[in-house]
Amino acid sequence: MSTPSLLILPGDGIGPEVMTEVRKIIDWYGAKRDLQFDVSEDLVGGIAYDKHGVPLTDETMAKAQEADAVLLGAVGGPQYDNLDFSLKPERGLLRLRKEMDLFSNLRPAQCFDALADFSSLKRDVVAGLDIMIVRELTSGVYFGEPRGVSVNANGEREGVNTQRYTESEIARVARSAFELAKRRGNKVCSMEKANVMESGVLWREVVQEVHDKEYPEVELSHMYADAGGMQLCRWPKQFDVIVTDNLFGDLLSDVAAMLTGSLGMLPSASLGAPMENGRPKALYEPVHGSAPDIAGQGKANPIACILSFAMALRYSFDQGAEADRLEAAVEKVLAEGLRTADLMGPEGGTPVSTSQMGDAIVAALDASL
Ligand code: NAI
Ligand code: MG
Repeated sequence: MSTPSLLILPGDGIGPEVMTEVRKIIDWYGAKRDLQFDVSEDLVGGIAYDKHGVPLTDETMAKAQEADAVLLGAVGGPQYDNLDFSLKPERGLLRLRKEMDLFSNLRPAQCFDALADFSSLKRDVVAGLDIMIVRELTSGVYFGEPRGVSVNANGEREGVNTQRYTESEIARVARSAFELAKRRGNKVCSMEKANVMESGVLWREVVQEVHDKEYPEVELSHMYADAGGMQLCRWPKQFDVIVTDNLFGDLLSDVAAMLTGSLGMLPSASLGAPMENGRPKALYEPVHGSAPDIAGQGKANPIACILSFAMALRYSFDQGAEADRLEAAVEKVLAEGLRTADLMGPEGGTPVSTSQMGDAIVAALDASL
């Protein structure tokens, strides 16, 4: 098999800072595990605008389409706030998601034991938590037509958005969730509001059909999304993979993320259809943005980006055991008490820098051999 390709787009603000630490991890895998990647790097966001006048060039877009996986840092910054909407850094990211047709957004909620007291929930409820929310990302109420604000026949202003899903859109994100479940706890819970929404009735039917025909060995349950929100706060460990639509997924993934602590810890993946080599098109990125308030100061937590690379190992490169190793290395440095500034509790202490955190994770990888 040829060397898998990885396109790195560090972007703006803390993006390049956290990506420098990921490069250390990638180099470690090459040197110590003989895991080679054909790595190339390019520009996205404000930095691409500065150089080329657009937040993503056609050449970079083409490279992203070809790559086995794309790893992105973050985009944006106050110096770009007054740009025309079509030139804003965020448009570069949106173009990637849209043209790669990344319909399946994976947001894990994973609680590292050392940070369990950081949660707003009791340690018991979150310690050891490891669940995955799969959010449909390219359809639903954020895209459905008709939409807009107009004046109706009574002379009143009226706002309209439309929840619309076709069965193929539901089926493909359901497949993505079942595939993930097979590599995890083999359990999927699908969430909608079939009690009050026809699109939810269809959602439930199609997910059940895909299950019965293609994944009968995976355990499937259905839940109303509002009840799902309650259950996520009450006893999140009952779940393995949750699959839901764009709107409910937006809310539920933010709720689930906050069960576990800081923005600096949260990775994500967005997956599309399988390519010729069987791998899904994939973009991995931390959930956080470019953090202009701390950029250039060595304060950023690189863990969200490092864990995004761990997801790439697992979901694009079939290296689940190496992904486990990397996550265990992160767990180890946290257990040893290392904290970047965003992870400091009220009791204080001395935070480590971005590069000290990266180096410590590399050392923990060494110790795992
Ligand atoms: P943000 O995520 O950049 O920052 C929010 C807060 O969290 C800040 O106080 C920041 O210092 C802190 N923070 C974020 N990541 C951190 C990390 N790794 N380590 C330590 N602290 C961290 O969100 P904000 O401030 O709303 O947006 C800043 C810029 O980033 C804007 O231009 C926004 O458009 C862009 N943005 C880009 C995203 C992306 O590239 N996917 C996502 C969200 C925002
Ligand atoms: Mg959101």
